[in-house]
Amino acid sequence: MTVHVDLLLTNIGQLLPMRSEGPKAGKAMQELEVIEGAVLGIKDGRVAFIGTDASDIEFDKLIDCKEKLVTPGLVDPHTHVVFGGSREHELALKQQGVPYLEILKRGGGILSTVEATRKATSEELYEKASFHLDRMLSFGTTTVEAKSGYGLDRETELKQLQVAKELQKNHQIDIVSTFLGAHAIPKTHKGNPELFLEEMLAMLDEIKNLELAEFVDIFTETGVFTVEQSREYLRKAKEKGFDLKIHADEIDPLGGTEMAASLGAISADHLVGASNEGIRLLAENGTIAVLLPGTTFYLGKSSFARAREMIEQGVTVSLATDFNPGSSPTENLQLIMSIAALQLKMSPEEIWNAVTVNAAHAIGRGNEAGQLAVGRKADIVIWDAPNYLYIPYHYGVNHVNKVIKNGKVVTE
Ligand code: NIG
Ligand code: FE
Repeated sequence: MTVHVDLLLTNIGQLLPMRSEGPKAGKAMQELEVIEGAVLGIKDGRVAFIGTDASDIEFDKLIDCKEKLVTPGLVDPHTHVVFGGSREHELALKQQGVPYLEILKRGGGILSTVEATRKATSEELYEKASFHLDRMLSFGTTTVEAKSGYGLDRETELKQLQVAKELQKNHQIDIVSTFLGAHAIPKTHKGNPELFLEEMLAMLDEIKNLELAEFVDIFTETGVFTVEQSREYLRKAKEKGFDLKIHADEIDPLGGTEMAASLGAISADHLVGASNEGIRLLAENGTIAVLLPGTTFYLGKSSFARAREMIEQGVTVSLATDFNPGSSPTENLQLIMSIAALQLKMSPEEIWNAVTVNAAHAIGRGNEAGQLAVGRKADIVIWDAPNYLYIPYHYGVNHVNKVIKNGKVVTE
């Protein structure tokens, strides 16, 4: 029977469909289906056909993918993409050895971006975030998580979330929103984190009613929120029907990993200082570890998250850029794949699972993004690379040949 498709990708050097029933945990991350000489048909924005024989297929448009790698669009499950200003002046402080948390303590860091974000209009934030999202798309990311957290007051947090919602409607990238009101203690609440957290909790009903966020996140760190404060905060957020995420054990090993896993968080992120018990609990509870090695690199640290031990012990590991103006100013998830190979010692197979299937599950999009299967959205990257090993290997450049979003070529 002849099948008619809108767009046919033929002659594909290597196709990684990334088909999987659920997230890939532990050693299953080593599995990778590779189809050589594949053809993939797209109709009405969805994958209509995957195979190796195109003889019965009619098409409106054809793309020859000879010697090219084809994969699902990448999923970036942890970013802070909506913000005002930038922080290039902090680079010199870093070079002088001023620690990240010390910059924050002096009222800089996150708090300086808070000032810039409060000053910015919604239109300015929209334009700026749109620019960064365009760049992410050009690097092959087709679904992204976006956190608030540069408002630290009701008005600005809502402004950030509204901007993300507008972008979700209008931008080609799919955006999943997280409320990170508990990102730092604002100057007005210095010494009174409990009161501040209460104020952030008081916003949750409104956020839910306006459908402004699916997840609630908190920065559990020395000088920011303690494990106890975070547990209480997240517990209440869960009662209100939000799924949980947490910035855990990023700089100091406080025990946020254990707390996240025991609360049944969908993901625990950073985990540079995660304890053995924390790793065990992640595996036991199916909490996804979102590792952000670009941040560890950019903060100039020598010790990275223990990805190998996590994988050995059965944890589901994902990777993200953590794109933000302070600790990780990059939209390039391909670069993170290289850092994951070099510093986390993850294999290429594990890395591909981490930035597709597992990343999609880390933001509740396991059924929509991160895989190419018949009936799924046609979010696809065609790479100028002969095989999947090539992307983590050749680092720091953009290997994208074309990005296809909802069946349409959106970059050239
Ligand atoms: O994930 N650690 C907290 N939040 C971000 C950094 C935000 C910033 O520096 O502006 C992170 O590293
Ligand atoms: Fe972050």
